[in-house]
Amino acid sequence: MLTTSPAEAAAFIKNGGVAAFPTETVYGLGADVFDEKAVAKIFEAKRRPADNPLIAHISSLDQVEKLASSVNENARKFIEYFFPGPLTVVLPKTENVPLIATAGLDTIGVRMPKSALAAEFLKACNTPVVAPSANLSGKPSPTTWQAVHEDLDGRIDCILQGEITEIGLESTVVDCSGDVPVLLRTGAISLEQLQAVVPETVFYVKNADAPRSPGMKHKHYTPKARVVFYDGDQVAENAAFIGISKPRAEFQLGRVFDSVEEYARSLFEFFRECDRRGIDTIYCQRVSEFGIGAALMDRLRRAAE
Ligand code: TXA
Ligand code: MG
Repeated sequence: MLTTSPAEAAAFIKNGGVAAFPTETVYGLGADVFDEKAVAKIFEAKRRPADNPLIAHISSLDQVEKLASSVNENARKFIEYFFPGPLTVVLPKTENVPLIATAGLDTIGVRMPKSALAAEFLKACNTPVVAPSANLSGKPSPTTWQAVHEDLDGRIDCILQGEITEIGLESTVVDCSGDVPVLLRTGAISLEQLQAVVPETVFYVKNADAPRSPGMKHKHYTPKARVVFYDGDQVAENAAFIGISKPRAEFQLGRVFDSVEEYARSLFEFFRECDRRGIDTIYCQRVSEFGIGAALMDRLRRAAE
Protein backbone atom coordinates (compact mmCIF):
# COMPACT_ATOMS: atom_id res chain seq x y z
CA MET A 1 0.00 0.00 0.00
CA LEU A 2 0.93 3.67 -0.41
CA THR A 3 0.67 5.96 2.60
CA THR A 4 1.78 9.38 3.78
CA SER A 5 1.42 8.33 7.43
CA PRO A 6 4.65 7.29 9.19
CA ALA A 7 2.60 5.49 11.88
CA GLU A 8 0.77 3.45 9.25
CA ALA A 9 4.06 2.45 7.57
CA ALA A 10 5.63 1.63 10.97
CA ALA A 11 2.76 -0.77 11.74
CA PHE A 12 3.99 -3.02 8.92
CA ILE A 13 7.50 -3.13 10.46
CA LYS A 14 6.05 -3.99 13.87
CA ASN A 15 4.06 -6.84 12.30
CA GLY A 16 7.02 -8.49 10.60
CA GLY A 17 6.62 -6.83 7.21
CA VAL A 18 8.80 -4.66 4.97
CA ALA A 19 8.14 -0.98 4.22
CA ALA A 20 9.98 1.55 2.07
CA PHE A 21 10.61 5.01 3.54
CA PRO A 22 12.40 8.23 2.50
CA THR A 23 15.61 9.47 4.11
CA GLU A 24 17.72 12.53 3.22
CA THR A 25 19.98 10.32 1.03
CA VAL A 26 17.78 7.84 -0.86
CA TYR A 27 14.67 5.74 -0.10
CA GLY A 28 15.31 2.63 2.01
CA LEU A 29 13.48 -0.70 2.29
CA GLY A 30 13.11 -1.42 6.00
CA ALA A 31 12.51 -4.33 8.36
CA ASP A 32 12.94 -4.89 12.11
CA VAL A 33 16.65 -5.75 12.53
CA PHE A 34 15.85 -8.38 15.19
CA ASP A 35 13.24 -10.22 13.08
CA GLU A 36 15.14 -12.67 10.87
CA LYS A 37 12.13 -13.59 8.76
CA ALA A 38 11.37 -9.94 8.03
CA VAL A 39 15.02 -9.25 7.15
CA ALA A 40 14.97 -12.21 4.74
CA LYS A 41 12.03 -10.56 2.95
CA ILE A 42 14.24 -7.55 2.12
CA PHE A 43 16.78 -9.73 0.32
CA GLU A 44 14.00 -11.52 -1.56
CA ALA A 45 12.10 -8.37 -2.59
CA LYS A 46 15.24 -6.63 -3.88
CA ARG A 47 16.83 -9.81 -5.29
CA ARG A 48 19.83 -8.74 -3.23
CA PRO A 49 22.85 -11.08 -3.00
CA ALA A 50 22.98 -12.61 0.51
CA ASP A 51 26.62 -11.50 0.95
CA ASN A 52 25.75 -7.78 0.97
CA PRO A 53 25.22 -6.44 4.55
CA LEU A 54 22.50 -4.00 5.59
CA ILE A 55 22.61 -0.69 7.45
CA ALA A 56 20.61 -0.33 10.70
CA HIS A 57 18.70 2.95 11.06
CA ILE A 58 18.04 4.41 14.50
CA SER A 59 15.88 7.21 15.88
CA SER A 60 17.72 7.80 19.15
CA LEU A 61 21.32 7.41 20.32
CA ASP A 62 20.45 4.89 23.06
CA GLN A 63 19.58 2.40 20.27
CA VAL A 64 23.31 2.19 19.40
CA GLU A 65 23.78 -0.06 22.45
CA LYS A 66 21.29 -2.59 21.11
CA LEU A 67 23.33 -2.93 17.93
CA ALA A 68 26.99 -2.34 18.82
CA SER A 69 28.98 -4.29 21.43
CA SER A 70 31.46 -1.43 21.78
CA VAL A 71 31.89 2.13 20.51
CA ASN A 72 35.51 3.34 20.38
CA GLU A 73 36.64 6.95 20.74
CA ASN A 74 36.73 7.58 16.95
CA ALA A 75 33.20 6.27 16.46
CA ARG A 76 32.01 8.31 19.41
CA LYS A 77 33.35 11.48 17.79
CA PHE A 78 31.77 10.75 14.40
CA ILE A 79 28.45 10.05 16.09
CA GLU A 80 28.69 13.27 18.07
CA TYR A 81 29.51 15.40 15.01
CA PHE A 82 27.46 13.80 12.24
CA PHE A 83 24.40 12.07 13.74
CA PRO A 84 21.68 12.62 12.65
CA GLY A 85 22.89 12.84 9.05
CA PRO A 86 24.16 11.04 5.95
CA LEU A 87 26.88 9.02 7.73
CA THR A 88 26.96 5.25 8.44
CA VAL A 89 29.39 4.10 11.14
CA VAL A 90 30.45 0.41 11.06
CA LEU A 91 30.85 -1.05 14.58
CA PRO A 92 31.29 -4.51 16.15
CA LYS A 93 27.81 -6.02 16.46
CA THR A 94 26.05 -7.43 19.52
CA GLU A 95 24.98 -11.08 19.59
CA ASN A 96 21.34 -9.99 19.31
CA VAL A 97 21.84 -8.76 15.75
CA PRO A 98 21.11 -11.73 13.45
CA LEU A 99 23.82 -12.67 10.95
CA ILE A 100 21.39 -12.43 8.04
CA ALA A 101 21.32 -8.64 8.60
CA THR A 102 25.11 -8.32 8.40
CA ALA A 103 25.63 -10.98 5.72
CA GLY A 104 27.62 -13.05 8.20
CA LEU A 105 29.94 -10.22 9.32
CA ASP A 106 30.60 -9.52 12.99
CA THR A 107 30.12 -5.79 12.38
CA ILE A 108 27.04 -3.66 11.69
CA GLY A 109 26.58 -0.32 9.94
CA VAL A 110 24.58 2.18 12.02
CA ARG A 111 23.02 5.41 10.82
CA MET A 112 20.58 7.99 12.19
CA PRO A 113 18.81 9.74 9.29
CA LYS A 114 18.21 13.47 9.51
CA SER A 115 15.04 13.60 7.42
CA ALA A 116 12.07 14.52 9.63
CA LEU A 117 9.77 11.96 8.00
CA ALA A 118 12.38 9.19 8.43
CA ALA A 119 12.87 10.16 12.07
CA GLU A 120 9.12 10.06 12.72
CA PHE A 121 8.79 6.69 11.00
CA LEU A 122 11.75 5.17 12.88
CA LYS A 123 10.48 6.47 16.20
CA ALA A 124 7.08 4.88 15.53
CA CYS A 125 8.81 1.55 14.66
CA ASN A 126 10.30 1.55 18.16
CA THR A 127 13.17 -0.70 17.02
CA PRO A 128 16.26 -0.21 14.83
CA VAL A 129 15.30 -0.79 11.18
CA VAL A 130 17.72 -2.37 8.70
CA ALA A 131 17.32 -0.89 5.25
CA PRO A 132 19.22 -1.08 1.99
CA SER A 133 18.32 1.32 -0.78
CA ALA A 134 14.77 0.48 -1.98
CA ASN A 135 15.65 -0.45 -5.59
CA LEU A 136 15.90 -3.80 -7.34
CA SER A 137 19.49 -4.95 -6.94
CA GLY A 138 21.74 -3.43 -9.61
CA LYS A 139 19.42 -0.51 -10.46
CA PRO A 140 20.05 3.09 -9.43
CA SER A 141 18.98 3.91 -5.87
CA PRO A 142 15.49 5.49 -5.69
CA THR A 143 15.20 9.18 -4.85
CA THR A 144 11.40 9.36 -5.29
CA TRP A 145 8.59 7.12 -4.04
CA GLN A 146 7.58 6.62 -7.67
CA ALA A 147 10.98 5.03 -8.38
CA VAL A 148 10.44 2.63 -5.44
CA HIS A 149 7.02 1.81 -6.87
CA GLU A 150 8.50 1.21 -10.33
CA ASP A 151 10.95 -1.39 -8.94
CA LEU A 152 9.14 -3.01 -6.02
CA ASP A 153 5.36 -2.66 -6.42
CA GLY A 154 3.77 -5.98 -5.51
CA ARG A 155 6.97 -7.21 -3.83
CA ILE A 156 6.76 -5.19 -0.57
CA ASP A 157 4.06 -4.31 1.98
CA CYS A 158 4.12 -0.54 1.99
CA ILE A 159 5.68 2.66 0.62
CA LEU A 160 5.81 5.73 2.85
CA GLN A 161 5.45 8.58 0.38
CA GLY A 162 7.70 11.59 0.88
CA GLU A 163 9.31 14.25 -1.28
CA ILE A 164 12.25 13.71 -3.61
CA THR A 165 15.26 13.05 -1.34
CA GLU A 166 17.45 16.01 -0.44
CA ILE A 167 20.92 14.60 -1.18
CA GLY A 168 20.21 11.91 -3.78
CA LEU A 169 23.36 9.81 -3.18
CA GLU A 170 23.77 7.10 -0.53
CA SER A 171 25.37 7.80 2.86
CA THR A 172 29.09 7.96 3.54
CA VAL A 173 30.21 4.65 5.15
CA VAL A 174 33.13 4.72 7.61
CA ASP A 175 34.41 1.54 9.23
CA CYS A 176 35.26 2.22 12.89
CA SER A 177 35.68 -1.41 13.96
CA GLY A 178 39.51 -1.11 13.89
CA ASP A 179 41.98 1.39 15.35
CA VAL A 180 42.04 3.60 12.24
CA PRO A 181 38.73 4.70 10.66
CA VAL A 182 38.43 3.60 7.03
CA LEU A 183 36.18 5.40 4.55
CA LEU A 184 34.44 2.60 2.61
CA ARG A 185 31.91 4.59 0.57
CA THR A 186 31.93 8.29 -0.27
CA GLY A 187 28.79 10.35 0.30
CA ALA A 188 27.64 13.83 1.27
CA ILE A 189 30.01 13.79 4.26
CA SER A 190 33.44 14.04 2.66
CA LEU A 191 36.78 12.50 3.64
CA GLU A 192 37.96 16.03 4.56
CA GLN A 193 35.02 16.45 6.94
CA LEU A 194 35.76 13.09 8.60
CA GLN A 195 39.46 13.98 8.88
CA ALA A 196 38.55 17.29 10.52
CA VAL A 197 37.10 15.19 13.35
CA VAL A 198 39.51 12.19 13.29
CA PRO A 199 42.66 13.16 11.32
CA GLU A 200 43.89 9.51 10.99
CA THR A 201 40.87 8.56 8.84
CA VAL A 202 42.01 6.91 5.59
CA PHE A 203 40.39 6.18 2.28
CA TYR A 204 39.89 2.46 1.63
CA VAL A 205 42.27 1.24 -1.05
CA LYS A 206 40.98 -1.62 -3.19
CA ASN A 207 42.91 -4.90 -3.14
CA ALA A 208 44.88 -3.89 -0.04
CA ASP A 209 43.20 -6.85 1.66
CA ALA A 210 39.83 -8.60 1.39
CA PRO A 211 36.96 -6.23 0.42
CA ARG A 212 35.88 -4.41 3.58
CA SER A 213 32.56 -3.27 2.18
CA PRO A 214 31.17 -6.35 0.46
CA GLY A 215 28.49 -4.36 -1.34
CA MET A 216 31.06 -2.36 -3.24
CA LYS A 217 32.10 -5.37 -5.32
CA HIS A 218 28.60 -5.69 -6.78
CA LYS A 219 27.65 -3.69 -9.83
CA HIS A 220 25.78 -0.56 -8.81
CA TYR A 221 23.86 2.44 -10.00
CA THR A 222 23.54 1.31 -13.58
CA PRO A 223 20.83 2.36 -15.98
CA LYS A 224 20.18 0.20 -19.07
CA ALA A 225 21.65 2.97 -21.22
CA ARG A 226 25.40 3.18 -21.72
CA VAL A 227 27.00 5.78 -19.43
CA VAL A 228 29.95 7.75 -20.85
CA PHE A 229 31.93 10.75 -19.57
CA TYR A 230 31.38 13.82 -21.75
CA ASP A 231 34.60 15.12 -23.29
CA GLY A 232 33.05 18.25 -24.78
CA ASP A 233 32.71 17.00 -28.36
CA GLN A 234 30.72 13.80 -28.54
CA VAL A 235 27.47 13.70 -30.48
CA ALA A 236 25.27 10.67 -30.86
CA GLU A 237 21.78 9.63 -31.91
CA ASN A 238 19.26 9.05 -29.15
CA ALA A 239 21.61 10.34 -26.46
CA ALA A 240 21.16 12.35 -23.27
CA PHE A 241 23.34 14.83 -21.39
CA ILE A 242 23.62 15.71 -17.71
CA GLY A 243 26.01 18.23 -16.19
CA ILE A 244 26.57 21.75 -14.89
CA SER A 245 27.51 23.58 -18.10
CA LYS A 246 25.66 23.67 -21.38
CA PRO A 247 27.03 21.14 -23.91
CA ARG A 248 27.95 22.26 -27.42
CA ALA A 249 25.75 19.72 -29.18
CA GLU A 250 21.98 19.21 -29.00
CA PHE A 251 20.81 16.11 -27.14
CA GLN A 252 17.53 14.22 -27.17
CA LEU A 253 17.26 14.86 -23.46
CA GLY A 254 19.40 17.22 -21.40
CA ARG A 255 19.74 18.60 -17.88
CA VAL A 256 22.06 21.43 -16.91
CA PHE A 257 22.19 22.29 -13.21
CA ASP A 258 23.39 25.36 -11.32
CA SER A 259 25.40 23.38 -8.78
CA VAL A 260 27.16 20.07 -8.17
CA GLU A 261 24.69 19.47 -5.32
CA GLU A 262 21.73 19.70 -7.72
CA TYR A 263 23.52 17.45 -10.21
CA ALA A 264 24.14 14.83 -7.49
CA ARG A 265 20.57 15.08 -6.26
CA SER A 266 19.12 14.52 -9.72
CA LEU A 267 21.48 11.90 -11.16
CA PHE A 268 19.71 8.65 -10.24
CA GLU A 269 16.27 9.91 -11.26
CA PHE A 270 17.76 11.12 -14.55
CA PHE A 271 19.19 7.63 -15.19
CA ARG A 272 15.71 6.19 -14.66
CA GLU A 273 14.09 8.80 -16.90
CA CYS A 274 16.56 7.95 -19.68
CA ASP A 275 15.64 4.26 -19.38
CA ARG A 276 11.91 5.05 -19.47
CA ARG A 277 12.50 6.95 -22.71
CA GLY A 278 14.70 4.27 -24.24
CA ILE A 279 17.80 6.49 -24.47
CA ASP A 280 20.89 4.58 -25.70
CA THR A 281 23.76 6.68 -24.35
CA ILE A 282 24.00 9.08 -21.40
CA TYR A 283 26.84 11.63 -21.49
CA CYS A 284 27.79 12.79 -18.01
CA GLN A 285 29.94 15.79 -17.29
CA ARG A 286 32.83 15.32 -14.83
CA VAL A 287 32.98 17.50 -11.71
CA SER A 288 35.87 18.37 -9.42
CA GLU A 289 36.20 15.87 -6.59
CA PHE A 290 35.54 18.25 -3.76
CA GLY A 291 32.78 17.83 -1.17
CA ILE A 292 29.88 15.88 -2.68
CA GLY A 293 31.74 16.00 -6.02
CA ALA A 294 33.86 13.03 -4.86
CA ALA A 295 30.76 10.92 -4.23
CA LEU A 296 29.15 12.02 -7.50
CA MET A 297 32.29 11.06 -9.47
CA ASP A 298 32.40 7.69 -7.64
CA ARG A 299 28.81 6.89 -8.70
CA LEU A 300 29.45 8.10 -12.26
CA ARG A 301 32.57 5.91 -12.57
CA ARG A 302 30.70 2.87 -11.32
CA ALA A 303 27.88 3.49 -13.79
CA ALA A 304 30.37 3.98 -16.64
CA GLU A 305 32.40 0.84 -15.84
O1 TXA B 1 22.08 6.30 2.43
C1 TXA B 1 22.09 5.08 2.65
O2 TXA B 1 23.06 4.52 3.20
C2 TXA B 1 20.87 4.28 2.23
C3 TXA B 1 19.69 4.73 3.08
C4 TXA B 1 18.46 3.89 2.89
O3 TXA B 1 20.07 4.76 4.43
N1 TXA B 1 21.12 2.87 2.35
C5 TXA B 1 21.96 2.21 1.52
O4 TXA B 1 22.06 0.85 1.78
O5 TXA B 1 22.55 2.73 0.62
P1 TXA B 1 22.73 -0.17 0.77
O6 TXA B 1 22.44 -1.48 1.38
O7 TXA B 1 22.24 0.06 -0.59
O8 TXA B 1 24.26 0.07 0.92
C6 TXA B 1 24.93 -0.28 2.10
C7 TXA B 1 26.43 -0.24 1.89
C8 TXA B 1 26.90 -1.41 1.06
O9 TXA B 1 27.95 -1.00 0.22
C9 TXA B 1 27.38 -2.38 2.14
O10 TXA B 1 28.36 -3.29 1.67
C10 TXA B 1 27.94 -1.43 3.18
O11 TXA B 1 27.08 -0.33 3.16
N2 TXA B 1 27.90 -2.05 4.52
C11 TXA B 1 26.81 -2.32 5.26
N3 TXA B 1 27.14 -2.95 6.40
C12 TXA B 1 28.49 -3.08 6.39
C13 TXA B 1 29.45 -3.67 7.28
N4 TXA B 1 29.07 -4.25 8.42
N5 TXA B 1 30.75 -3.63 6.93
C14 TXA B 1 31.13 -3.03 5.78
N6 TXA B 1 30.28 -2.48 4.89
C15 TXA B 1 28.97 -2.50 5.19
MG1 MG C 1 21.95 -0.02 -2.57
